[in-house]
Amino acid sequence: MQDPTFVHSVFSSIAKRYVTANHILSLGADILWRERALKMVAEWKPRNLLDIATGTGDLALTVKKALPEVDVLGTDFCRPMLDIAVQRGLTNVLEADAMNLPLPDACYDAATVAFGLRNMADYEKALREWHRILRPGGHLLVLDFSMPEGVFATPYRFYLHNILPHIAGWLTGNSGAYDYLGESIEAFPRGAAFCDLLSRCGYQAPAALPLMGGIATIYTAEK
Ligand SMILES: C[S@@+](CC[C@H](N)C(=O)[O-])C[C@H]1O[C@@H](n2cnc3c(N)ncnc32)[C@H](O)[C@@H]1O
Repeated sequence: MQDPTFVHSVFSSIAKRYVTANHILSLGADILWRERALKMVAEWKPRNLLDIATGTGDLALTVKKALPEVDVLGTDFCRPMLDIAVQRGLTNVLEADAMNLPLPDACYDAATVAFGLRNMADYEKALREWHRILRPGGHLLVLDFSMPEGVFATPYRFYLHNILPHIAGWLTGNSGAYDYLGESIEAFPRGAAFCDLLSRCGYQAPAALPLMGGIATIYTAEK
């Protein structure tokens, strides 16, 4: 659970360097993960899709490019991130808090959120809000980092807490920007715990797909 004022200031300060930093820090894996998410979205055949915490628009643009028939809206509470999304070709954007969306009930066939929920102040409130704007039978997809289990966990933890923040600070020009990343990943519910959270928030058929040994996970559920 994160402080929204802090999160807003972090993303405002790194907006211009976010896309490059992201691809370098994940060694391009984030692109593959979004492509995997796209395949799932394509199977749902939505008419419209809300990409929540769209940031610089990576997932929204991936969907828009591959599925031009889908009406995609990207929403985020950080204007500097949205400005970059618009420059990159995401024409349809909405500046709003993901936990209090200025949208009617049951108006979207699909909602996606990549690396966003983990940064929010109240996971349950956010998930319930997204449930509200989904149509009955609509789909939610959450892509986020998760902690791997087994032998890989210890070296990954070391990288996350001791190496990544320094590289990220150098790439983004904001040395403190990624200090909280490791803690936020540790604190974010994963696997069965996240599926339980989805059920508690009213979703059906929650499922988890771990990626690359569990360093990221795609969760899906239906309204
Ligand atoms: C790590 S970025 C992810 C951006 C993009 N989805 C991606 O995959 O690259 C997290 C984004 O979440 C947004 N965010 C965090 N809390 C939010 C909130 N309460 N409402 C709307 N956006 C929020 C931030 O402004 C930031 O753009």
